[in-house]
Amino acid sequence: MTKKVCVLGLGYVGLPTACMFAVQGYHVVGVDVKREVVETISKGSIHIEEAGLKTMLQAAINSRNLVARNEVEPADVFIIAVPTPLAPDKRADVSFVESAARSIVPVLARGNLVVLESTVPPGTTNGLLCRILSETGLNPGVDFHVAHSPERVLPGNVFSELVSNDRVIGGITPESAQLARDLYMSFVEGEILLTDSTTAEMVKLTENTFRDVNIALANELALIAAEYGVDIFSVVALANRHSRVNVHQPGPGVGGHCIPVDPWFIVENSNEAGKLIRRARELNDSMPERIVQLVEHVVGPAQDAKISVWGVAYKGNVDDTRETPAAPIVHLLRKRNYKISIFDFHVRNFECEIDSLESAVNASDAILLLADHKEFKYLDPHVIGQKMRRRIVIDTRNCLDPAKWKGAGFDFHLLWKKL
Ligand SMILES: NC(=O)c1ccc[n+]([C@@H]2O[C@H](COP(=O)([O-])OP(=O)(O)OC[C@H]3O[C@@H](n4cnc5c(N)ncnc54)[C@H](O)[C@@H]3O)[C@@H](O)[C@H]2O)c1
Repeated sequence: MTKKVCVLGLGYVGLPTACMFAVQGYHVVGVDVKREVVETISKGSIHIEEAGLKTMLQAAINSRNLVARNEVEPADVFIIAVPTPLAPDKRADVSFVESAARSIVPVLARGNLVVLESTVPPGTTNGLLCRILSETGLNPGVDFHVAHSPERVLPGNVFSELVSNDRVIGGITPESAQLARDLYMSFVEGEILLTDSTTAEMVKLTENTFRDVNIALANELALIAAEYGVDIFSVVALANRHSRVNVHQPGPGVGGHCIPVDPWFIVENSNEAGKLIRRARELNDSMPERIVQLVEHVVGPAQDAKISVWGVAYKGNVDDTRETPAAPIVHLLRKRNYKISIFDFHVRNFECEIDSLESAVNASDAILLLADHKEFKYLDPHVIGQKMRRRIVIDTRNCLDPAKWKGAGFDFHLLWKKL
C-alpha cells in the first residue's frame, strides 16, 4: 500500500519536500497553519520564490498525490519543517516545533515515523519532541519511530540539492534512522549517513558554526592587517594558496537565515565550552558598528553628508535581506544623522526605500559598498563620479577594481583601516 506522508510547514523547506514525495508516488498531505498558504498552494500557485517550484507543485497537484490542508491528518509518516527563529534572548525559539508536535499527538499511531527537519539545538529531538509525542501514551522508539534529518539546501537551488546533497539522518534508535533512510532514498541520490539524533542536530549546527567562526577569524585578521597597513584580501587570497588553508572572506558582518543564527543554538546550554563560538558571533555582530566608525573617519561628521549605500542583500547576487548587516549599518548611520540613499541591483523589498542608482549617487559624498553584486564591477567610475559631491568609495567586499576607481579620482578604501 502506498504510504501517506504528512508534511507540517509549507515554506522554503517543507513545500519542495512535499512536492518531491508526491512526485515519487507517496500520498502527501501538506499542512500549514496559515490559511492563505493552503489556499494558494491548493490553486497550484506559490507563495515563495524558488526555481522550478511552480512546475513541481503543479505536477504534484495534477498527480493528485498532494493536497494542502490546515489540519493534520492520520498518516504513516510526519515530517516537521516549521520555523525555528532566534528569540531575543539569543536562544532558539522552538515554539513552532512544539505546536507542530502537539498537532500530531491526536493522530499518532503505532508504527508511525516522525521526522524533524527544522534546525534545532542539540537534544531537541530526543528531548522536547519525544516528550510531547509521548503524551499519546505510546512509547517513542518502541511503539513509533523518531528521527532528525536536518535540511541543508541552498535557497535558489533547492530541487537539485534535495536530490544530490548527502543527507545526515539521526534516529532516536537505529531502527528509526533506518526507516527514515528508506523514506528519503525515494529521491536522494547523495549518500545517506546514519547516526543518532543528537549527533545529527549537532552536525547541522557545526556546519554553519564553522563558517561563522571562520568569518570571525577573517574579520579579526582584517583588524590586525589594518594595524600593519596590509590589504587583508591579499593576505587571505595568498594564504589560501596553501592546500590545507581555507580562510573565508572578511566583510561588514554576517547575514542570511542560518549562519548568524545556528551558532547561538549550539552554545545555548554551554557557557564555558561555548566561549570561542560566542566570541566569534559577537565579533561578527560588531562589524556594522565598526563600518560606521570607518565611514565617520573617512567622510567626516555627518552635517549634511550623504552616503550612497550600494547593496543591502546579505551577500552578492541574491535578493535575500534576512539578517543582512546592511540593516544595522543603515540604522546606525541614520542615527548619526547621515543622509542615506540605497541602491541594490537585486533587492526590491527592504525596511528602507530602494532608490535608483542615479538618485542614490546624486550629490553624495561617499559610496559604501556592502554587497558584492557582480553588476557593480561594470559601473564606470568616471560617470558615477561626475554626479557625486565628493569622490569617496568604501568597498567592504573587495568587489571594485581599486586602480580603476583611483584612476577616476576616487579616494578608495577597502573594508578596514587603522582609525
Ligand atoms: N530556508 C532554507 O533554506 C533552510 C535551509 C536549511 C534549514 N532550514 C530550516 O528549516 C526550517 C524551516 O525553514 P523554512 O525556511 O522552510 O521556514 P518558512 O518560514 O519558509 O516556512 C515554515 C512554514 O511553517 C508554517 N508553520 C508554522 N507553525 C506550524 C505548525 N505548527 N504546523 C504547520 N505549519 C506551521 C508557517 O506558516 C510557514 O509557512 C527552519 O528550522 C530552518 O532553520 C531552512
